Amino acid sequence: MDKILIFDFGGQTCQLISRRVREIGVYTEVVPGDSMLSELSLEGVKGVIMSGSPESVNSLAGLKVDPALYDAHFPVLGICYGFQRMTHDTGGEVKSLDKREFGRAPVTFRKECRLFQNIPDGFTSWMSHGDSISSLGAGFSLVGESLHHIAAGVQEEKQLYGIQFHPEVSHCDYGNEILKNFVIEVCGARPEWNMERYLQQVMADIQATVKERPVLLLISGGVDSTVVGGLLLKALPSDQVYLMYIDTGLMRKNETEEVEGYLQSLGAKHLKIIDASADFLTALLEVADPEEKRRIIGDMFISVQEREVAKLKLTNSFLAQGTLYTDMIESGKGVGKKAHVIKSHHNVRSPLVESKRDAGLVIEPLQYLYKDEVRELGRNIGLPETMVGRHPFPGPGLAVRILGDVTVEKCDILREADYIFVNELKNRGLYDKIWQAFCVLLPVRSVGVTGDAREYGYVLALRAITSRDGMTADVYPFETRDLLEISSLITNSVRQIGRVVYDISSKPPATIEWE
Ligand code: XMP
Repeated sequence: MDKILIFDFGGQTCQLISRRVREIGVYTEVVPGDSMLSELSLEGVKGVIMSGSPESVNSLAGLKVDPALYDAHFPVLGICYGFQRMTHDTGGEVKSLDKREFGRAPVTFRKECRLFQNIPDGFTSWMSHGDSISSLGAGFSLVGESLHHIAAGVQEEKQLYGIQFHPEVSHCDYGNEILKNFVIEVCGARPEWNMERYLQQVMADIQATVKERPVLLLISGGVDSTVVGGLLLKALPSDQVYLMYIDTGLMRKNETEEVEGYLQSLGAKHLKIIDASADFLTALLEVADPEEKRRIIGDMFISVQEREVAKLKLTNSFLAQGTLYTDMIESGKGVGKKAHVIKSHHNVRSPLVESKRDAGLVIEPLQYLYKDEVRELGRNIGLPETMVGRHPFPGPGLAVRILGDVTVEKCDILREADYIFVNELKNRGLYDKIWQAFCVLLPVRSVGVTGDAREYGYVLALRAITSRDGMTADVYPFETRDLLEISSLITNSVRQIGRVVYDISSKPPATIEWE
């Protein structure tokens, strides 16, 4: 399949470039910016995009690039640092600016260029740079300028293209069109990447790897593991697929029944639902420290998992995991080959996963996919929208949404309130506009009046945020009426809650969860 390589120099939007190109229908791989071409698989590569970076090409920390890249047989597009790197390496000059150019900036064309085919002169780009190109590299010609800066250049003979702005960011007008011009028109890549095709390929891969052996999958109730479950049931005879779901007692209302229903509708035969709520809630008794709660839940997960997996008496079985592409690579934080290590995914530490990994018995069928692609794949295998469109839910469940110690009573109160909140968002057509919405039960009682009596009820916080990937988040700007109506619905239905507040903190500085 045709593909575009994204050279990662540590810029925050590197993964976004990759996702945008995939939305165009072309497969991408993100590789460290300092990769040598000789160590990469270049089969199917039609072009390269060099990402931005928090570093300067003039500083030692700025990653160097393999010079062979500039003489490769495919086109290269440098974005921001990528353009500056290309300029510096071909004899041009990059200087640091006294004042960062940040935000919207119109680009005026100085020369025709295929990159800007069908884009209007003076379009509004999105800039974010502290260094600027003061003279272009050898053989480059000026294609576009922003107010005082070089915005785009091209070296036609070597097919090197550079832009100072960020087409991958949604604030950049015509950003997708510019990326499409590069990928399709300049590189000639065929848009062959889609989830239908991936489904066929991944099913064949699973069959070829697993053959007749059993496969075990631990289902968390989230989108990723449920999609893996659906994939396994589609690719293999249901007799071979062992699904296990641990109910921690910290799940949302009806969650266990819903997951069971989805998997059964996909033909699950060996689906083991383990009610371990007593184990978890007993271990959490009187524990208020958030880190301690997480540790207890993590350890309990491992011990219940070991105990229950042993009961299955499977020999030589594979373990399937819902690892995503973003879990496989570190991005944005570090730069270069050293930073590209596998993240310590929250279940990597479990002895079961480690022993299976050591034995080469782990399959990760989502490892090339982004979250939105997983949702698309889920739709392709017949999972309902209510499943694939679910908001993310943290592994430790309601325990990190009950501040202070966790009790069965508090779990029930929170479960009920959360259900009302989320259901109301669905009824009002707001659920899909919000990235994550949930309730938090505070360890505070406040006074209220019901009839003639004074009552001390719990305080409940509502949280609703918009986000692209959970790394940063904005508060969802509700209409006041929605908030007021939802608040009364909750206090009228859940007697123990006396007061409802709305959390208006973005991330940063706050996190999405409260603990
Ligand atoms: P924060 O609170 O760090 O959350 O802003 C970012 C995203 O991660 C989820 N989250 C977790 N997911 N185990 C998980 O599987 C955890 O311990 C955990 N903590 C936070 C959170 O719900 C949000 O989507």
